[in-house]
This record gives sequence, structure tokens and C-alpha cells, in this order.
Amino acid sequence: MGDFMDRLQKVIANSGVASRRKAEELISQGKVSVNGEVITELGTKVSEKDEILVNGIAINREEKVYYLLNKPREVISSAHDEHNRKTVVDLIDEDKRIYPVGRLDYDTTGLIILTNDGELTNLLTHPSNEIDKVYVAKIKGTLTPSEIMALKKGVVIDGFKTSKSKVKVKSIDKKNDTSIVEIIIHEGKNHQVKKMFEAVNHEVLKLKRERIGFLDLTGLNSGEYRKLNHKEVSKLYEMTK
Ligand code: URA
Repeated sequence: MGDFMDRLQKVIANSGVASRRKAEELISQGKVSVNGEVITELGTKVSEKDEILVNGIAINREEKVYYLLNKPREVISSAHDEHNRKTVVDLIDEDKRIYPVGRLDYDTTGLIILTNDGELTNLLTHPSNEIDKVYVAKIKGTLTPSEIMALKKGVVIDGFKTSKSKVKVKSIDKKNDTSIVEIIIHEGKNHQVKKMFEAVNHEVLKLKRERIGFLDLTGLNSGEYRKLNHKEVSKLYEMTK
């Protein structure tokens, strides 16, 4: 803390914008400024308070943190809420500015990742990735075989056809006319799971995300969270390739 000084190229490399060697090049080429002054000398010492720009853009000097939260109902998945409702960020004791990766609805529960790593966020939320997102829905009624087939093949929601999904009926409650259904999708459009069931005329009464890729909710009760370890973070990066 305080006035800890570090070499400029190391600080740039740690921010993730360039490798150490590339950072040295950028400095020599006059593309780096510290507190508004161009610095070309390698090894210049900088403190935590110095503002460093690379190609005119401030580097992010914060250490990256990663959390897995079991989101309760009635919590909003954003960093701020205009109506002052409780957010997922409020549930985590962390001073750094973290935000959720993707969204779960206000009334949806389950697994959500929070981080301050913009690169990983972009990779995970990019539509081209094929990472399994496993949801368990309690729905009104019972799915017919043709409805299950339609969900698996893809249904049209908001003019967009969902990609292939996996659907498994876990149980049926005849008395209350409800079913528990597991559905595995890769995309994350707004209210996607609810809209998919709506497309086959079944209302979703309850929804929980149980897994993203290899990450599940083992050991986390509702409202509880834990940090991801280095291995899990590298595995997430791997999965997005
Ligand atoms: N699909 C939904 O409909 N809601 C969620 O919160 C997540 C996926």
C-alpha cells in the first residue's frame, strides 16, 4: 500500500494490455504517458497513484477478482438499480468495482459470476461461445413430445430462432399440474428460457441456473458466494477458445 513503486513496463504488462516485451516497445516508441507526460525511458518507477495511458487510454491497474454467487430471488443482476433494489454486487463484500457476467432475472435464482475482468466478461457473453448453461424450470402443465422436440430444435422468440438445446423432464406433479424441466442452452438472450417455454405455451413459475460449464453451486446456499481460484479462471478462459 502507500507509495509502492514499480517499473512502468511491469505495471503495463500486469494490466493486461500488452506483454512485458511489447510494453517495453510501446514505451520506447513514445506511446506511454505518465500523469500527462510522455515517458520513453524503460524502468521508470511509477506508484499506484500515477495515471498511465497507453495509446491515450488509461490502463486498468486493479487486481482482477472473480466470484461465484448463488443469487437469491428478488435481487437484481446489475451493479446499480435505479429503484434502489438490492443488487448482486451488494451481496458481495468486495471494494473493487465488480459487476455480473450476464444477467439473471429478478425472480430467477442460482449461479452467476461477478468480476472486474472485462476481457473474460466479453469472452463469456459473446454469442459464439458454446458454454453450457444449465437451468431448471418449474413450469405450468406438462410438455408433450412435440413441444419437447420444438424446444430441442429451436423455437422463435422475438424474431430470433434459438439454437439447439437439451431438454429433460425431471418430474411431473399431476395434482398441481406442474413439471420440473432441465434445459441446457448456450445463448443468453433476454428472458430466453421463459420465452422458450412461452413459445410452447407453458408459463415458467420458477427458474434456477444450476451450472455454467464446469461451475456449479456445490457448497453454496442461496445468497452465499465464493472466490474462483486461478485454475477455475484459466479453465474459463480455455472454454471460450
Ligand atoms: N432465462 C430467463 O428467462 N431468465 C433468466 O433469468 C435466465 C435465463
